[in-house]
Amino acid sequence: MSDAGFVTDLCAACELAADGEVGITAEDTISEWSRPSFDPTRDLRLVFESERLIGYAEVHAARKVWAYVHPAYRGRGIGTALVDWTERYARAEGGRLVGQSISENEEDARQLFLSRGYEPMWTSWILETRLDEVLPTPVLPEGMAIRTFDAGRDARAVYRVVEDAFNEWPDRDPTSFEDWAALTILRPDFEPNLLFVVEDGNDIVGTAQCVDDRGTAWVHQLAVKASHRGRGLGRALLQHSFQQAKKRGLTLAGLSTDSRTGALGLYERVGMHIKRTYRHYALTL
Ligand SMILES: CC(C)(COP(=O)(O)OP(=O)(O)OC[C@H]1O[C@@H](n2cnc3c(N)ncnc32)[C@H](O)[C@@H]1OP(=O)(O)O)[C@@H](O)C(=O)NCCC(=O)NCCS
Repeated sequence: MSDAGFVTDLCAACELAADGEVGITAEDTISEWSRPSFDPTRDLRLVFESERLIGYAEVHAARKVWAYVHPAYRGRGIGTALVDWTERYARAEGGRLVGQSISENEEDARQLFLSRGYEPMWTSWILETRLDEVLPTPVLPEGMAIRTFDAGRDARAVYRVVEDAFNEWPDRDPTSFEDWAALTILRPDFEPNLLFVVEDGNDIVGTAQCVDDRGTAWVHQLAVKASHRGRGLGRALLQHSFQQAKKRGLTLAGLSTDSRTGALGLYERVGMHIKRTYRHYALTL
């Protein structure tokens, strides 16, 4: 875990060079590495020059890659060596596809992937909205209500709603409860007061989880049970999250979504706009 700070700094330097701003936080790296399924000796490679971390790659579930080379060390074959390793690793683990999402501004990485036979897959976006205007009051169907998370009784039900909803996406690996918990309710920056649930009677049918990311309410997960979609619950959860975040003095709200979810229109209709665009490139093994 002591390398998490170095990796966060490396990713931040790459984000800054590509997009002019940093999205990653130390808590993101720590929570990813705290997943019980993550084994650093198996899933992670670090490249150092003396004491300085200049490159890194990690592979999740023999499928999803995060690999970065420090901008000052590009053009020396480090990226190629890391991609070679991710492909070998995924193949050895029985993976069928391996790939990474990169910023639309990462032209070198795009060329590298295309030259190796990777194909563009889904597009993802970072969206944002300011919280300084008067925010609309969420409206829910009769018999439903939004409340904050109760750690003692809600964790499994929230996990179930998120997991079932996210597993509808193509090319998504199921997440165990323990991995989900590491990524959400056990994050160092987790705040139960920023996790909201919608109840229909006594059943949790929707959820939105936010963290305070340097003054931005970052919506990590938004999900509504399939049986309850199209009735305004997604919109109400976002509006409620924005209102609660504003009450805490947060000035922005942000989230990431991708073209597999079909939810971009929902976010734009609650006032969010696209800030950054990424594309997922993958190689059939
Ligand atoms: C995205 C999701 C949370 C929306 O929940 P919902 O309760 O159905 O959303 P709402 O009823 O509030 O919909 C509000 C609007 O968005 C539209 N919308 C919602 N989900 C949509 C989808 N998947 N595709 C297209 N439009 C969608 C609705 O038609 C509605 O349009 P309107 O404003 O013109 O009336 C839900 O579809 C879901 O859980 N999907 C699976 C998980 C997921 O993709 N989460 C988002 C991850 S970023």
